[in-house]
Formats: sequence, C-alpha cells, structure tokens
Amino acid sequence: MGKLRRDMVAPARRRGRSRARTARAMALGMVAAALAGCRGPQSAFDPAGTEAAGVIHLFWVMAAGAALIWLFVMGISVYATRVQPGAHSERTGNRFILWGGVAFPVVVLTALLVFGLRLMPGFRAPADGPRIAVSGERFWWRVHYDTPDTPGVAKALTLEGVPSANEVWLPVGRRSEILLGSPDVIHSFWVPNIAGKTDTIPGRINRLVLEPTRLGTFNGICAEFCGTAHAQMGFRVRVVSQADYDARVALEASDAAVLDHPGRASFEQAGCGACHAVRGTASVGLVGPDLTHLASRQTLGAGILPVTPDNIARFVALTEHEKPGVQMPPFSMLPPDELASIAAWLGALR
Ligand code: CUA
Repeated sequence: MGKLRRDMVAPARRRGRSRARTARAMALGMVAAALAGCRGPQSAFDPAGTEAAGVIHLFWVMAAGAALIWLFVMGISVYATRVQPGAHSERTGNRFILWGGVAFPVVVLTALLVFGLRLMPGFRAPADGPRIAVSGERFWWRVHYDTPDTPGVAKALTLEGVPSANEVWLPVGRRSEILLGSPDVIHSFWVPNIAGKTDTIPGRINRLVLEPTRLGTFNGICAEFCGTAHAQMGFRVRVVSQADYDARVALEASDAAVLDHPGRASFEQAGCGACHAVRGTASVGLVGPDLTHLASRQTLGAGILPVTPDNIARFVALTEHEKPGVQMPPFSMLPPDELASIAAWLGALR
C-alpha cells in the first residue's frame, strides 16, 4: 500500500516541480521583456541627455528608498503580528508615532528635497549652443532655427528664424536653448531620452535647455492633452555633430530643391499654398507646416507616417482618416493623377 502511494505521489510531485520551473521561466521572460521595453528611442530609462540622466538618477534613488521603507514597514508589521502580538504600553505607542510618524518622514522627505533641488541648477544652466524656437500647433510642431549669421532671431511665435516642422536637429554635447510657445492651447514638449517635459503655454514663452550627450534619433511627443489628435502629435529629434547641424540649418534655410515639376502647378492650383509654404515658389502659407524640405524629414503628419510619395498622397486625400482631429481638410476630390503628381513633387523636396 505504502509503495503504491509513493508511486502515485512521485509523478505528481515531478509535475508540480516542472510547473514551477515553467512559471519561473515565464516570469523571467516577462521581466526581460519589460526591461527591454525600457530601452529605445522614446524612453526616460535610456538617457541620452544631461537632464534625463539627472532625472533617472533621482528616480532610482527614490525607487531604492521606497523599496527600503517598504521592507522596513513590512518588518514592523510582521513583528507586531507574529513576534510580539500582545498589547504594547501607551508610552511605547507614543514613542513609535513620534519616531516613525514624525521624525522618520521629516528626515526622508528633507533629504529627497535637498537631493532634487541640487539637480535643478544644472537643468537651468545657460545655453552655449544654438537657439531654436518651437511652437505647439494643433496638432504639429512649428520649428524655427537661428542661423549662424543671424543668431538670436528665432522666436516661438513670431515666425522669425529659419522655418521647419516636426523635426528638431540638435548638436551633440552643446546646451541648446529651446523657446516654447503656443498660439492657442497648451501642449507639452517632451523628448524622454534627453530631458523632462516643458509645457507650451499661450501668452508666454517657456525656456528649456537641452544637452544631448549621444548621437542618434529620438522620439518626442506631446505630453499634455490638447485635443482629438493629441496622441498623434509626435516629432523627431536628430542629435548630430556640430558640422552636420550647421549643414542642416543651411539646408533648411535654402529654397526648395525641385522647382520645375508638374506637381508644383497642381499644388498651386489646388490652393495648398494658402496654408503651406514651399520657399522659392508662390506658396507662402503659414497656417500649416512648412514643406520646403519635407522629403528630408523622417515623418509625415507629425510623427505618424514615414515620408513616401504614397503616404503623402494618402494623407492629402484622407487627412481625417489618417489623423482624426487634424485641421487640414481632406482633398479626396482631387483627380488621382493630380494627387499623385503633387505627392511626387513633395516627395522629391529634399
Ligand atoms: Cu499637443 Cu497634446
């Protein structure tokens, strides 16, 4: 009988053990996947800027402190329920409230405050790099660069400086000054890998200093609900060498590269120039993004689609479908060949 039971129990125990192993492997896999999600071009856990490095340092200090305090409180709970479950004297209780409920939080919170405040002067350091103005629009980013020969001109709202949109180029290792504004609603400019978020507020100019420490392309997003297309209000930050930055601003300052193209006439006839500028042509609209060098950007529609002629045609014809809430009306009434011609021209504007 005893042997029979042992024979029955052993496989069950083995099954239990293998199930535990599977659960452990799954848990490890999930932790690995979660940690892998912390890296990448849009993560505050993968700092590529001085300010983001300070913020993540503060986060880890707070997380470690919170874990220690949690363990301490759990230890006290176990002590009170298992080790010494009986009633304590009133004096012990009062002493416990004084030390655990008053002294301990005061010391911990003061230390954290001092630690956080000590990070702040670095974030507000004077800029030694270019000045770039960024205006949060519904629902895209208006960008103006200072040029080497006219420094200090870029302004977030008055359209001075070299215009661009939805992409901000920065020289690595320099503290660039970003001036943030908005004509109507509040947005928030956030490049998680490089710095914390700063709001763009109508009626005032906020100043943000970005010091990227690593070359690369990072994703920026709008971090303040601003309307229907809020979640589709992205941008790219391209961190490059100083020489590449200067070359980029020179390119942005130049007129459109392709002026002789059938798509140009279609673009002008369809009235696109009332809202969009293509410098070097009669199209000088300021309502929507400047398209002079559209094809040299990585995305279309503020971070939502790669720039290809097909995507341009689809976006122009079906704006509301591609980006619900967008201010630009759909141009689905355009004949397909005209639409393709416009898309081919814009897709050639490097
Ligand atoms: Cu702009 Cu949210």
